Amino acid sequence: MSEEKKILYSGMQATGSLTLGNYLGALKNWVKMHEEYECFYGVMDLHSLTVRQEPAKFRQNARKLYALYVAAGLDPEVNCVYFQSHVSAHAELAWILDCFTYMGELSRMTQFKDKSQKHADNVNAGLFTYPVLMAADILLYQAHVVPVGVDQKQHLEITRDIAERFNKIYGDVFTVPEPYFGENGAKVMSLADPTKKMSKSDENVNATILLTDDRDTVIRKFKRAVTDSDAEVRFAPEEKPGISNLMEIYGSVTGKSHEEIESEFAGKGYGDFKLAVGEAVADELAPLQERYEKLLADKSYIDDCIRRNDDKARYVSNKTLRKVKKKVGLLEV
Ligand code: TRP
Repeated sequence: MSEEKKILYSGMQATGSLTLGNYLGALKNWVKMHEEYECFYGVMDLHSLTVRQEPAKFRQNARKLYALYVAAGLDPEVNCVYFQSHVSAHAELAWILDCFTYMGELSRMTQFKDKSQKHADNVNAGLFTYPVLMAADILLYQAHVVPVGVDQKQHLEITRDIAERFNKIYGDVFTVPEPYFGENGAKVMSLADPTKKMSKSDENVNATILLTDDRDTVIRKFKRAVTDSDAEVRFAPEEKPGISNLMEIYGSVTGKSHEEIESEFAGKGYGDFKLAVGEAVADELAPLQERYEKLLADKSYIDDCIRRNDDKARYVSNKTLRKVKKKVGLLEV
């Protein structure tokens, strides 16, 4: 770990399994980031508690997410891949930052508005202060960059506002993070409604490719993907959202440009194209799934990785937390 590298922080919530969208849009790109950055990736299990979880399943899913991170190529010897809930500094800093965040700005968060509509029976305070915990995650590690999707952009903005507000009062305590939009992070849309993002909470199983879907399932889902009624493989997101989404996926997996894909399938039907996309995705996922199965069978290896990385995360985050406590005037003895 070299001292000059800038710091990168990101993570995903520990719910359900991951989709091809999570993989091509985020995880696959995370894998190479350590060449340029010192990287911290959390399993964000505290954030998942804003929605009611079934304890046994939640615990299992959390370990599975960790195994998927590693199976996708996030090397836990090179990156700090750890559990948010194992590092108490997150919850502690979140409380302190709550006292530097306004009700007004939190109530303007679109995700809060969406989620409180979706879970109208459980609009808990955690849902409201969700962005403050996220700010704590990022600021504890003095992150310079945070790769996030567009849906998290507003949360990164409030993180910057909180950091700047705090720094203005107490001096330069926090690094103010920048969003990082990867050049080649594909935005993957639903296979059933290509105007919507692919989402793990979609009720239609055919809309979503899970990273754990077997080869036949992947190919079958791509065969059923909604497209348009002409037969031209051409990139035109407005006019041909379904085909454009499949091209985006195929390009992201094979490294081919839109032009190359268009000429590869010139004069061929959608059937051939869909099959090629399905096979390419299945080929991409096969080695990941093989590693994943091996990792799940070796619980002690995963748990050992988690423990060692938790220790590192604790060490780094406590430095910031101690400084914050001192600045705000909490008594140390
Ligand atoms: N809220 C993010 C999501 O749902 C997950 C997350 C929590 C996160 N803390 C973070 C992402 C810190 C980046 C940095 O996708």
